[in-house]
Amino acid sequence: MCGIVGYIGKKNAYQILIDGLKRLEYRGYDSAGISIINNNSKIVAFKQKGKVSEVESAIDSSEFTGNIGIGHTRWATHGEPNDVNAHPHFDMDENIIIVHNGIIENYKTLQKFLSGEGFTNRSETDTEILANLMNYYYRQTKNFEQAVRNSLNDVEGTYGVACLCAKEPDRIIVARKGSPLMLGVSMEEIIIASDASAIINHTKNVMYLEDGEMAVLTKQGFQLKTIKDEDIYREIQELDFELSEIEKGGFEHFMLKEICEQSDSIQNTYRGRINFDTGVARLGGLEPVMEKILNAKRILITACGTAWHAGLTGEYMLESCARIPVEVDYASEFRYRNPIIYPDDVVFVISQSGETADTLSALREAKNNGATTVGIVNAVGSTIAREVDAGTYIHAGPEIGVASTKAFTCQLMSLTLISMMLAEAKGAMDSENLKRIADEIKMLPEKIQTMIDRREEYKFIAEEFKDARNFLYLGRGYNFPAALEGALKLKEISYIHAEGYPAAEMKHGPIALIDENMPVVFIAPKDKTYDKIISNIEEVKARKGRIISIAFEDDDQIAQYSDFVLRVPKTINILTPIINSIPLQFLAYYIATARGCNVDQPRNLAKSVTVE
Ligand code: AGP
Ligand code: GLU
Repeated sequence: MCGIVGYIGKKNAYQILIDGLKRLEYRGYDSAGISIINNNSKIVAFKQKGKVSEVESAIDSSEFTGNIGIGHTRWATHGEPNDVNAHPHFDMDENIIIVHNGIIENYKTLQKFLSGEGFTNRSETDTEILANLMNYYYRQTKNFEQAVRNSLNDVEGTYGVACLCAKEPDRIIVARKGSPLMLGVSMEEIIIASDASAIINHTKNVMYLEDGEMAVLTKQGFQLKTIKDEDIYREIQELDFELSEIEKGGFEHFMLKEICEQSDSIQNTYRGRINFDTGVARLGGLEPVMEKILNAKRILITACGTAWHAGLTGEYMLESCARIPVEVDYASEFRYRNPIIYPDDVVFVISQSGETADTLSALREAKNNGATTVGIVNAVGSTIAREVDAGTYIHAGPEIGVASTKAFTCQLMSLTLISMMLAEAKGAMDSENLKRIADEIKMLPEKIQTMIDRREEYKFIAEEFKDARNFLYLGRGYNFPAALEGALKLKEISYIHAEGYPAAEMKHGPIALIDENMPVVFIAPKDKTYDKIISNIEEVKARKGRIISIAFEDDDQIAQYSDFVLRVPKTINILTPIINSIPLQFLAYYIATARGCNVDQPRNLAKSVTVE
């Protein structure tokens, strides 16, 4: 959460910072601000509640001329979103100004200490305490770098920070622990950013900061060190995506663009990884730990939100195909419940961003306990991708919409490939069955595309239900997690309360909610539980619930039980959650837009939750 941007070079920093913040705004958008060292070597700053575009309209840009600056778009953790709590934050003497992503966990203790030293605060943020602490050390050392270093050594919690100092106006100091930060580096300039989306239009050459590291940036270049003052040398890496991939490309919202990309993104996940003649799947990134996985008594999967739903589907896939026991845990629970982890356990960590703090902590917990860790990650070079023992990239491409869509289906595809690979290696599935899955995978992009082309059908149903106050989503087996995900999508972007349940579980409680005002979405592919699902539909119908079924095109039974049917192409059981997710995503999207909601920036959310 929160986007940080910074610039040092020969160009005017102002527009580069504003443009960078706009690209990072999906990470947090309750307030924004920038600070520049102007041509008179003075720090100027502006910040306010609201979106980056509002800041841009309110600012007098003529005062912001200079070629060193920092900016921030906030997702509040400490102190409500308002002008005062917006970043950047000056220290009391207005010598040091900082932007921060993360949480200073011991800020109360530090604040007590600093108030004893005469420091006062303007905001309610933890960040301002850090700015004051830096200046406390500056007063003693008269050295910006030393002041930053001393402060960071006192801090508990997480930070990505970028700092300017009025008394040393030729530099930016950045540091990271727990919150992502990277540098885009060219001969002429350095761009600082929380992620590559604010860098790619300037350069493809990047350097990721690791935890416990800081860098001092001047117009001559940068020096990378640990916060304990040890020198570090790191190679520059090259970004592997293009600017066009992070732009809207004619779509009204990133979310719609990303839903519509899924025919391609799914192909990108499996491309080069399946032999369609034999049905054998191979993920090169998993090879180094294959022995470990094959000998593991169980696999643990941990993730948050949508990625957790993918993990839950993975449990069904891996147990059914590879016959390996699987447990799935929310990363935030896994980390703090003193889990039993054996050294021969393999822990799969699923994350779109690769930066989610809860997931990262769970990964570190697993590693500390000696387990083998495997990442299923989208963002190339992200912290989780770098810290796991082995892993696979899902290759969904950059996902900007806060509500995850294409990353989910690509995570499901990755888990299908992993299940096939393990099933083959364990001899748990014969080649005929593997080949059948492979054949169906090959047809998947086309099937997804037919749904995308027919998306207007889903729009009509959305109009019908846009004023509903509640929704239930029900599915069984592979499609129970799909029901959870469908409900999450609706909640996130339309603010309609929605719950997902295993369809059979409805009669154990949620059935009490059913009346003529309750829309119930049934995910009803023709599998071995189909007749049971029909009975569940009947139970809802008997209580006057309104039924929207998601069913195969050739299902000629379902219409008589349903008020509306969303048709999907027929596929095999294991691939149904991918197919069924498409109408669920469209349903959420069209309901939210019909209600006038900002689907790319839903309230209270941020794309990447980098605090615990
Ligand atoms: C999905 O729509 C969410 N906004 C959210 O649940 C997300 O999936 C979760 O925060 C995990 O993110 P990650 O995949 O980047 O780790
Ligand atoms: N903890 C800081 C605040 O609430 C930073 C939050 C962020 O990461 O945006 O202001």
